[in-house]
Amino acid sequence: MTEKKTHKVTLIPGDGIGPEVTDAVVRILEATGVKFDWERFAAGAEAFEKYQEYIPRELYESIERNKLALKGPVTTPVGGGFPSINVTLRKKFELYANFRPIKNLPGLETRYPNVDLVIVRENTEGLYVGLEHEVVPGVVESLKIITAKASTRIAQFAFDFARKAKRKKIHAIHKANIMKLSDGLFLKCAREVAKGFPEITYGEHIIDNTCMQLVMNPYQYDTLLLENLYGDIVSDLCAAFVGGLGLVPGANLGTDAAIFEAVHGSAPDIAGKDIANPTALLQSAVLMLRHIDEDAAADKVQAAIEKVYGEKKTLTRDVGGTSGTRAFADAVITALEEVA
Ligand code: NAI
Repeated sequence: MTEKKTHKVTLIPGDGIGPEVTDAVVRILEATGVKFDWERFAAGAEAFEKYQEYIPRELYESIERNKLALKGPVTTPVGGGFPSINVTLRKKFELYANFRPIKNLPGLETRYPNVDLVIVRENTEGLYVGLEHEVVPGVVESLKIITAKASTRIAQFAFDFARKAKRKKIHAIHKANIMKLSDGLFLKCAREVAKGFPEITYGEHIIDNTCMQLVMNPYQYDTLLLENLYGDIVSDLCAAFVGGLGLVPGANLGTDAAIFEAVHGSAPDIAGKDIANPTALLQSAVLMLRHIDEDAAADKVQAAIEKVYGEKKTLTRDVGGTSGTRAFADAVITALEEVA
């Protein structure tokens, strides 16, 4: 028998609820039998306290080596302070595609049943380049950068994904009626790419209308292609369809590296209380398992999650249960044995 491969993964527990949900997920992944070698690093305020760097050099080097990271959320100060660690990592490793599947878990009753949406968010530019300056006191300029290269690349990603996953429709979401040049370019690139995919219906909706349409009838959409800011906002909106931020996973994908993290942030309001739901990071880890060709383990973890939700006995508070983060993780570990 061939020896099982050990996967080296950079692990960023993050802060707020990050360490709790990461701990839960690592315990579950270890219980799958897949071999991992975790390289653990602090980032953000915690890293600065220890190393006087928000992103330690060793962390960058670890991702460069492993090309794979599992990441908890990191707090970003509002209105000042250091730049977002998340945005910095995405830019540094050119993780241009933020992939967020929004799907109901069987057994969990939510605002909308049977939702199956995919959000494809451009992850490197738009307003998130953070190019802001004060022109004169009382006047601030914030630059939105849209390039043909990044817009074409993300459209290509969305269409390639849709073809592979046999999905039927892509809507590019924009505000090109106002931002005629920037969002106009995003659309122009999407239309060009769409020409190569005649089997996929291509549509365009304006962002404000899209928010209303989503809440009225999310079933009219299939795959949404969005620039950075719209993708960020619409992700949280869509998370509410399937039970909230405690559920929705994400992947930041580039040509040379991938970082898997939940859509949610560090949730300071519930941090350190053993009440956060680790399912979002766990489902991100399922995406990671598929990325490293551990499909059997991915299927097993997904089945275990669905079993625990189906039984409704050990759920966290955000989804109507009374259990803690650790108890939920224990239940998934037990379920892993039962679904094997
Ligand atoms: P948030 O996503 O942390 O929390 C929003 C709401 O959802 C809160 O009520 C929170 O308790 C709840 N929630 C989030 N995750 C949950 C979970 N796993 N289980 C149960 N409930 C959960 O958003 P917020 O409060 O706007 O941001 C807090 C911090 O997180 C900010 O500093 C922000 O910059 C950062 N952030 C980091 C991200 C990342 O590291 N990828 C992504 C988004 C925000």
